[in-house]
Amino acid sequence: SDFLHLGNKLLHWYSQNARDLPFRKTRDPYKIWICEIVFQQTRISQGLNHYNNFVDRFPDVKTLAEASEDEVLLYWKGLGYYSRAINIHKAAKQIMSDYTGVFPSEYDEILKLKGVGKYTAAAISSICFNGKMPAVDGNFYRVLSRVFADDFDISSSRAFAYFSELSQLIIPDNVGDFNQAMMDLGSEICKPRNPVCLECPLNKDCLAFSLNKTHEFPVKTKK
Ligand code: ADE
Repeated sequence: SDFLHLGNKLLHWYSQNARDLPFRKTRDPYKIWICEIVFQQTRISQGLNHYNNFVDRFPDVKTLAEASEDEVLLYWKGLGYYSRAINIHKAAKQIMSDYTGVFPSEYDEILKLKGVGKYTAAAISSICFNGKMPAVDGNFYRVLSRVFADDFDISSSRAFAYFSELSQLIIPDNVGDFNQAMMDLGSEICKPRNPVCLECPLNKDCLAFSLNKTHEFPVKTKK
C-alpha cells in the first residue's frame, strides 16, 4: 500500500533502537509466551525479575506442567492478576495433553490455549514462527490513531477489528520485529502523555504531530 514505508521506517528504527531485553535473545515460544503474559499488564521494569526467576525455575512447558499450582503462584507473587498464573499453569498441562508437549506453531492453535487472546497469539506466532498477524494492543491504537489523525473511538467494541485492518496498510514482511517495534515505539516515544515526537521515526508522516494535536488521539469516550 501507499503506507508501507511507515512499517519499513519503523523496522529501521527498531534495528537501531530495540530495547535490550532478555526475551529478545530467544525465539523459544515457551519463553515468548511467558513474557507476553507477564508484560501485558506489567511494566518491563516492574516485571523483569519475576520473568527471569519464573523461566529459571520453570524453563519449559513440561517443568511448568509438573509443578504444583501453589509453587507457580509463589513465583507470580507480587505481579498481581493471579488468574494469569493459574491460566499459564493450565495451558502448560493443555500443551502436554493436546500437543504432546510441543508448543503449537499455528495462530489458531495458539489461540486455543487457556488465557491466550488475540494479542498474545499474534505476538507468539509472529515472533517465533514468522506468522503474519499484527499484535494489536493499546500501543497500536495510539500510534495508528495519531499517525492518521483517526478519531475512531478506541472504547468501541469494534476498535480491535478496525485497528487490525488499519495496521494492514503499514505491516512489512518481518511482522515479529514490526510488532515489537510498535511495542517499543508506544512505550518509549509515542507515549500516552508527553510523546517524544522529535525522536519519532514517523514524525514526518504523522498527521496528529503536523496538526499539533497528538494529545487529541486516541479518542476514548468511555472508561
Ligand atoms: N511487552 C509485552 N511484550 C513485549 C515485547 N515482546 N517487547 C517489549 N515489550 C513488551
